[in-house]
Amino acid sequence: MTKPKYYLTTPIYYANSRPHVGSAYTTIVCDVIARYKRMCGYDVAYTTGTDEHGVNIERAAEKQGISPAELVDRNQKIFIELWKLLGIQYTHFVRTTETRHDRAVQTLVRRTLERDKALPAHQRAIYKAKYEGRYCIYDNLYVSDTPEPADCQICGRPAELISEENYFFRLSAFQQRLLELYDQNSGKFVQPDFRMNEVRSFVGSGLKDVSISRKAIKWGIPWPGDPEQVFYVWYDALTSYMTAIGFGEGHEGDANPEFKKFWPADLHMIGKEIIRFHAVYWPAFLMAAGLDLPKQIFAHGWLLFEQEKMSKSKGNVAYPEPIVKGFDSVAGAKVGNDALRYYLLRETVFGQDGNFSREALITRYNADLANGLGNLASRVLTMIQNYCGGVIPKPNDDAKNREKLLARFDTGNLAGIRGEFAAFNFSRALELIWELVATVDQYLVLEKPWEFAQDPNQHGRLEGVLYDSADALRVVSVLAHAVVPDATSRIWKQLGENQSLQHESVQTIGRGGLKPGTRIGKPEAVFPRVDKKEASERIEAMEQEIRNPGSAPAAATPSAAAGSAAPAAAPAADAKITIDDFAKVELRVGVVKSAERIQGADKLLKVMVDIGDEVRQVLAGIATAYAPEDLVGRKVVVVTNLAPRKMRGLESNGMLLAASAGPDGKPVLCTFAEDIAAGSKVK
Ligand code: MSP
Repeated sequence: MTKPKYYLTTPIYYANSRPHVGSAYTTIVCDVIARYKRMCGYDVAYTTGTDEHGVNIERAAEKQGISPAELVDRNQKIFIELWKLLGIQYTHFVRTTETRHDRAVQTLVRRTLERDKALPAHQRAIYKAKYEGRYCIYDNLYVSDTPEPADCQICGRPAELISEENYFFRLSAFQQRLLELYDQNSGKFVQPDFRMNEVRSFVGSGLKDVSISRKAIKWGIPWPGDPEQVFYVWYDALTSYMTAIGFGEGHEGDANPEFKKFWPADLHMIGKEIIRFHAVYWPAFLMAAGLDLPKQIFAHGWLLFEQEKMSKSKGNVAYPEPIVKGFDSVAGAKVGNDALRYYLLRETVFGQDGNFSREALITRYNADLANGLGNLASRVLTMIQNYCGGVIPKPNDDAKNREKLLARFDTGNLAGIRGEFAAFNFSRALELIWELVATVDQYLVLEKPWEFAQDPNQHGRLEGVLYDSADALRVVSVLAHAVVPDATSRIWKQLGENQSLQHESVQTIGRGGLKPGTRIGKPEAVFPRVDKKEASERIEAMEQEIRNPGSAPAAATPSAAAGSAAPAAAPAADAKITIDDFAKVELRVGVVKSAERIQGADKLLKVMVDIGDEVRQVLAGIATAYAPEDLVGRKVVVVTNLAPRKMRGLESNGMLLAASAGPDGKPVLCTFAEDIAAGSKVK
């Protein structure tokens, strides 16, 4: 029997900077969906990729003194590496600079132009006209279609004036057909429902035509037959969903069998800010070319960092690598990936905005993963090891407290969990799975098998309790696998299961599947508990390495280490910055007035430093190298225009420059041999 197909996509990521936790959010969620759908029996194609054209790429490359091609090559590798680290099982990766993508975009427009030939000029989907408008190069967004000055509604920066001949797409002619599309299939084209309503009312209030090419830009796909023009980023970018699965072959572009099989997409998963492009432009582009439309678009919320959208240019970012590697190294096991995935899906109601907090992540890990699932697995497996000779015992219904367990694991309840997954209510699905975990815990607490483990008269009961618990663990492993794949695979092996967990069916999973007599694997902690402070500091130190490559964590001030004050768009280690970039950093001579230790922070000192016109409080990570009393009167170099940052309840308002010596990165403060007044500029 052939499996039903399921095609899902993430947006393709701008390749102008490295991905942060917010960007990884979409990909992680899609990975959960892809894994889950496979376990439901679907043949899944999952596309991700990099968006490599446009002004923002050109500008980023120019700033770093390299070519756009070099920049995107370098950054694309960072994405690939990250997805590998995060265990993302995508099946297709598309880059918009690939030749096959040029072909796909040009074929899409050619199809449209050919269909246009049958129409009178005023009805043609594509036409050439003068474009004048304001455009935000950072967000790739038309801010307004008039030449008057305007600020970008996303980033607030002034938008640039664009005035040139472009190709236009007659979006205004698609209003009716789009509204009809939104009314089909019970109005689920866009999810969640409130987003569908937003889109409907946007389209209902009238649509303007959009420019789909640019003359001023060089870095893009040439327009067929008019090489002065390149495709504008959204027409180019959206087509990548089809390029990935083979669109662009044959005259009509749809000759590739994989394209025939997987198109249309079942789901485009996106963040809420790019909904208009996906729910309005994209179906219209496809209608004009006579291609099938995607079945659904889901717009999730943003992951906020201190209530603002994470953005490298604002400096308020967290990166996934330090979280994963930091957890792994503190726990001494491969747990970081699961910790991040579980946290992202459990903490936030999917579709709404959520807040990212390192503290909350560690707390969730310890509470739900280490004390919850991890603890249950090691208790059950250790008892089977100790009391049953390491072999799965026989089921037995002598146990007295089974009712609740049986009720929780009945088919209706398990179907309820599947329903939550199917509706992308990940947080609720996980809550319900963890209720299963809690039920098994309670069962053990009530039965207390350890109290009668040595009593031969109760051996049947002992076996029954341990069978029930291990069998429950099996069910939980299958249900939770898509979210926490590493740990559930380890539990699976420890239960003595040999076949691959990812090929199990979530549809048919139920009690009683565990085979008695199976020899279990060696019980090992799947989620070792981590010390909150240690984990937080380790992650923070690793984050610092990403923000300021080459600088040792100990030498940095906590303000930089904690992130809010990181320099905007820090270039890669080998890139050059311009004098203008350097001039953005304000450096002044400071004289230390007082310094003291901070309770509970062994690396930090609270330093009061005179910078000429004021005395600033700076928290500096130098306590391991300097006694507070030795600092008083010392002349130091202070970065005075860093955004303030709170650490351990105290505000740090600047940063002291220090060299980083030896393998431990011992901080050595920058100072002056000559006499110099506090407040003097350093440049
Ligand atoms: N290149 C376009 C998409 C073209 S799709 C044909 C783009 N790229 S992006 O890199 O800016 O964003 C990629 C995805 O990451 C989007 O879904 C975006 O919403 C998501 N996120 C980026 N920052 C985010 C958060 N802070 N929180 C959640 N997701 C956000 O847009």
